Amino acid sequence: MGDARLLRIAEPVTAFGTPELRALIEDMQDTMASLNGAGLAAPQIGVNLRVVIFGVGANPRYPDAEAVPFTILCNPVLEALGTDMEDGWEGCLSVPGLRGLVPRYARLRYSGFDENGVRIERQVSGFHARVVQHECDHLDGILYPRRIRDLTQFGFTREIFGEERADD
Ligand code: NI
Repeated sequence: MGDARLLRIAEPVTAFGTPELRALIEDMQDTMASLNGAGLAAPQIGVNLRVVIFGVGANPRYPDAEAVPFTILCNPVLEALGTDMEDGWEGCLSVPGLRGLVPRYARLRYSGFDENGVRIERQVSGFHARVVQHECDHLDGILYPRRIRDLTQFGFTREIFGEERADD
């Protein structure tokens, strides 16, 4: 947070199945895995492209989260289904050591393309919908602290959840 590259509007992917795109996604996967992230957007590693990856199995940073299938999503388009919002705690690998309570649309349809240009379209809710909204915000230069409505609900992970969760 504070790096100007995180504030840019990212550019669409125009060529799929290329060695460059594969290398980017591999780099993103390595970064996300090494930091136990639930997701990562290309701008977070300094690449100004509309590429996000996400997925949650058993994740010590999100022990209560439902599973989200591992997904590579390029040029995502999000459409909220209804107006219901839900509050949930978020963290971000670009905002280490902190958590904030963020409202997100509860239900969502999203579409986009995988690394080979195969179209993906899903309707999701809950934590899956939250992760997609968080990651896609990165493509528009938005970090989650800008979404927090009540800044009393923003603080250090170790203060909010205790030392055992303070892994970042
Ligand atoms: Ni993030």
